[in-house]
Amino acid sequence: MATTFAQQGVGKHQGFEYSRTGNPTRNALEECLAALEDAKHCLAFSSGLGAETTLMLLLNPGDHVVYMEDVYGGTFRLFDKVLKRFGLTFSAVDAADVDAVEKSITPKTRMVWLESPTNPLLRVVDIDAVSEVAHSHGAMVCVDNTFATPYLQQPLHLGADVVVHSSTKYIGGHSDVVGGAIMTSSDELEKQLRFHQNAVGAVPSPFDCWLLLRGVKTLALRVERQSMNAMEVASALQGNTAVKRVFYPGLENHPNRSVAARQMRMFGGMVSFELADEATAFRTLERLRIFALAESLGAVESLAEHPARMTHASIPAQERQRSGVGDGLIRLSIGVEDVADLIADLESALS
Ligand SMILES: Cc1ncc(COP(=O)(O)O)c(C=O)c1O
Repeated sequence: MATTFAQQGVGKHQGFEYSRTGNPTRNALEECLAALEDAKHCLAFSSGLGAETTLMLLLNPGDHVVYMEDVYGGTFRLFDKVLKRFGLTFSAVDAADVDAVEKSITPKTRMVWLESPTNPLLRVVDIDAVSEVAHSHGAMVCVDNTFATPYLQQPLHLGADVVVHSSTKYIGGHSDVVGGAIMTSSDELEKQLRFHQNAVGAVPSPFDCWLLLRGVKTLALRVERQSMNAMEVASALQGNTAVKRVFYPGLENHPNRSVAARQMRMFGGMVSFELADEATAFRTLERLRIFALAESLGAVESLAEHPARMTHASIPAQERQRSGVGDGLIRLSIGVEDVADLIADLESALS
């Protein structure tokens, strides 16, 4: 927990001076998370958005970013309400369409920002194909791998240059720590990020790093169980007459199932589904007994939420509707409970 470290002489120390700059527990976490993404480097942050902000500060006024339109609401808010003020420009595209990505790249494009699967519509981007296009135009590719987890998908192996995580979610896994991380194998990017991590200061506490290290020990067990449960929940929802549409990359009718099967080990623990309208969605959410009505995701307990009014409320209604996040949409984060209980809970609330 130390904030400072005794030095043997001025400038003579054992690698640690002050904990914003470096801390042994944070080092242990960074080494562990780098290994999970098979990256040469990892930098840990106090939240996913802290990691994202620090990464974006490597860009300069006038630089252009192309991003997947269905990104986490907080990422959109950071781009649209904060970074635009500093002269960065952004274009939202459906990155599941590789041609659309290529068309939106300009000579000023420095970065293509992806999420796959996306939040909350579980759209899938061919990371390999988009990386090839971006690199041919000299842009770097960043993938927010929060939903997939490094256990299911390793974007650096698919051509991405940088991975970001909200480690608050599956990496922590127990709804008890907020954190973020950036992984890369580029020494040059690591050098710039390390400078900015210290200069900007969005660093995690040693205790948070320790909690994340403890949580990550069961990542594989949790994600396997969550993915198996999610597949069964998605299939059950698809057979329910009250449900208009189910969004899950493992379903046969998902438009990008083959891409998901190629780049992911399993299909993950997130499922979204659409009901008739907002009132029906609200009533269903209020009637769930095992699923807690709460924001966040990726922990051992199952959660349900209403993206339009909760996690994605920071996106203007028009923008939200354009990207397909309707008022009847419910997002589920599937936990490790008995799947028969989860399905019974949903069916009872829907009936
Ligand atoms: C996909 C995704 N990326 C980034 C974030 C932001 O992370 P944090 O809440 O840890 O700042 C979230 C948070 O919900 C998320 O779902």
